[in-house]
Amino acid sequence: MIAVVDYGSQYSHLIARRIRSLGVASEIISPQKNTLELKNIEGIILSGGPSSVYKNRSPRLSDSLLKLNVPILGICYGMQLLAEYFGGRVAKSKSREYGKETIFVNQGNDLFKGLSKRETVWLSHGDKVEKLPKEFRSISSSRSCPIAGFFNRNKNIYAVQFHPEVVHTENGQTVLKNFVFKICRAKKSWNVKDQATKIIKDLREEIGSEKVLIGVSGGVDSLVAANLLHRAIGNKLYAVFIDHGLLRKDEAEEVEVFYKKGGFKHFLKVDASKLFLKKLKGVTDPEGKRKIIGYTFIKVFEDVAKTLGKKDKIAFFAQGTIYPDRIESGASSKQAAKIKSHHNLVLPKKLKFQVIEPLADFYKDEVREIGERLRLPKESLFRHPFPGPGLAVRILGEVSPNRLEILQEADAIYIEELKRAKLYDKIWQAFAALVPVKSVGVMGDSRTYQYMISLRAVTSVDGMTADWFKMPLDVLERVSSRIVNEVKGVNRVVYDITQKPPATIEYE
Ligand code: XMP
Repeated sequence: MIAVVDYGSQYSHLIARRIRSLGVASEIISPQKNTLELKNIEGIILSGGPSSVYKNRSPRLSDSLLKLNVPILGICYGMQLLAEYFGGRVAKSKSREYGKETIFVNQGNDLFKGLSKRETVWLSHGDKVEKLPKEFRSISSSRSCPIAGFFNRNKNIYAVQFHPEVVHTENGQTVLKNFVFKICRAKKSWNVKDQATKIIKDLREEIGSEKVLIGVSGGVDSLVAANLLHRAIGNKLYAVFIDHGLLRKDEAEEVEVFYKKGGFKHFLKVDASKLFLKKLKGVTDPEGKRKIIGYTFIKVFEDVAKTLGKKDKIAFFAQGTIYPDRIESGASSKQAAKIKSHHNLVLPKKLKFQVIEPLADFYKDEVREIGERLRLPKESLFRHPFPGPGLAVRILGEVSPNRLEILQEADAIYIEELKRAKLYDKIWQAFAALVPVKSVGVMGDSRTYQYMISLRAVTSVDGMTADWFKMPLDVLERVSSRIVNEVKGVNRVVYDITQKPPATIEYE
């Protein structure tokens, strides 16, 4: 197992994912983790991070990690930590390097086997190593950074200033592969597809003859979790789907049909749309809307759970929590956890269930692979992310039944055209938003005064940053013309060309 120590880099998760994709187990640990708890460690990677090693309160390299006596690779901040620890010097760089750069590589070491003398890499740093620690040799340099990598073969310690884990580093995966197999001599121990059978077996053992309740949404995580449970315990699973009325067009029916066809005997759809709309009436503040939805959701779920509990004794509550939701250490993961907390239903303590999380060790792409192994339809597995509060965060201002319907219609046309143009799978997330500002238009001979629809499509890796998708103009034209012609109440369509940051992906 390769441990990734997370010093707060937005790429820490990416490192672990890359290692797992080489077939080797990898876990993210916090710098404070008690190393005595670590088992089967074959190597350690120190991640990057936003801090500066020469500042007082920055995270430090703990002695106990070095005592494990396994190979270490430091990346960016991780490299600077190693430099400082072994007596080198790190200082602020006069010129920051951010983005793609060429580095010069010394190939005479195991880490850089198979690389060329010049390599394109991704750098993102404001500090640099100015003096090498004793007994370490420099192995790469960049334009403004003479020491962009170093190593000590006896100690089995390697360090690079660039990020091998990001795709812009063209041979980054070779560097990680060299570290994992040539330097750590790690064994292949990770195969996601095989995990499905193991999870099902473990679930059976854990649950025994008890009953389990799961809340499902239509999203990928709960879909895969529910299906794993269904294979494990069959009719002892109770799946509850609360329709808050803020879903995409026809989605509630599709979810119901899907689960019923899948043989879920205890599938319960609760239509709470009227209640949600009543509670949202007159509310315009974005946070206010989110709070109402979150609170109402839990209330409805609690009532259903209580009613079910009276009839059948249910011992477990299952959640579709995935690995990134669980990690609390680095800054990026904290952020991810915050985003997710909206839709990962956290049950009030008074409902006395034991919690099971069948997907807690997996990344989203791995969850999809498990779903493929379960032969779940690709269309459901590769669906764009959809926020817990649903279309409410895509209708600026008040959510009324009329505005909801307008948005559902416009969004359905947009997604249909993206699929027809074979663009849907190239986009990370696409949707329509309703801007309830009226503007003047003309249809036939009459003047109109109607709402505006904004189309959003972004590319992204994890939703933390995003770029707007460079949509072909003919597709935009078709979508715009269909929306103004087919959706009553809309006379203007715009395309959103803002990145995140500074904008967010959703509108509220
Ligand atoms: P933002 O709008 O913050 O969105 O750029 C980033 C990603 O998170 C999703 N998102 C949410 N997901 N509950 C969720 O489950 C929410 O309240 C929520 N808000 C945003 C959003 O769709 C995007 O994929």
